Amino acid sequence: MADHPKGDGVVAPGIDTTRPSVARVYDYALGGKDNYEVDRALYRQILEIAPETPEWARENRRWLGRVITWLARDAGVSRFIDAGSGLPTAQNTHQIAQGFNPAAEVVYVDNDPAVIAHGRALLLDNAQTYFTAADLTRPDDVLGDPPVARLLEAGEPVALVMALMLHHIPDTNQTREIMQKYLEVLPPGSYLAISHAGNPRDGSPAAELATVIEDKVKSSFPNLRFRTPAEIGSFFGDLELLEPGVVRLFEWAPPGGEAPDDDLQADARRVLYGGVARKP
Ligand SMILES: C[S@@+](CC[C@H](N)C(=O)[O-])C[C@H]1O[C@@H](n2cnc3c(N)ncnc32)[C@H](O)[C@@H]1O
Repeated sequence: MADHPKGDGVVAPGIDTTRPSVARVYDYALGGKDNYEVDRALYRQILEIAPETPEWARENRRWLGRVITWLARDAGVSRFIDAGSGLPTAQNTHQIAQGFNPAAEVVYVDNDPAVIAHGRALLLDNAQTYFTAADLTRPDDVLGDPPVARLLEAGEPVALVMALMLHHIPDTNQTREIMQKYLEVLPPGSYLAISHAGNPRDGSPAAELATVIEDKVKSSFPNLRFRTPAEIGSFFGDLELLEPGVVRLFEWAPPGGEAPDDDLQADARRVLYGGVARKP
């Protein structure tokens, strides 16, 4: 974690430092510096019950790295929408994708004011990387924003990535309806990648821990929902789920690809799940 966060200095307009923000708490978990005391205080409470959560955040980033690498290098995808992108960290989607294909285009979408400020700066930096400031629960706003609309217009396969984002929409049916709108407009051959906080609700150590965390963060993040693997799987709609399906992130490997993180296999308390599907 960050010893000397920079967030407590000058505060950009629109940033509320009196309440924790999901993007900033996650930034702190990853060792970033764009967070405030209110974010760190909440994260300290989470650490008390689950000291391994910084490793979960890194596990999610490694999963994202495996997914983007496979899509850009092996599946020939050159258009990416990273929805709920979060604050910049090491190895962001555009850096990975453009490392394999310099022509790859990436649109980041987020509605957190701190992320939006960074997103705007990114536009000055990289010609094929764009930022859409929009609420993902309003698909018409997102899909109508010029960078997203342009990306989809070409009719070429697009990878829609929703990493640790959908669990911030509390109603599961509404989440399915929202996802349906995104899935309808994806061109054939597109991919959807989801990672999500899970609770198998089966009495396992992972289920017990997920329930305790849900309870702990309820007052700060009332919309956060840990879901069963089946519920998470339902967000892929009619798409073809790639093997190994919706599994814990450390278990996910791309088709014929690199082995997952062997060193994590033993941890029975890990609660992040994910999967990747293809639109026929
Ligand atoms: C935990 S972070 C995940 C960041 C990144 N996707 C990753 O996996 O490393 C969740 C992000 O989703 C964003 N987010 C949550 N709800 C959103 C919404 N309705 N519209 C846009 N962004 C949202 C938050 O602002 C935050 O940046």
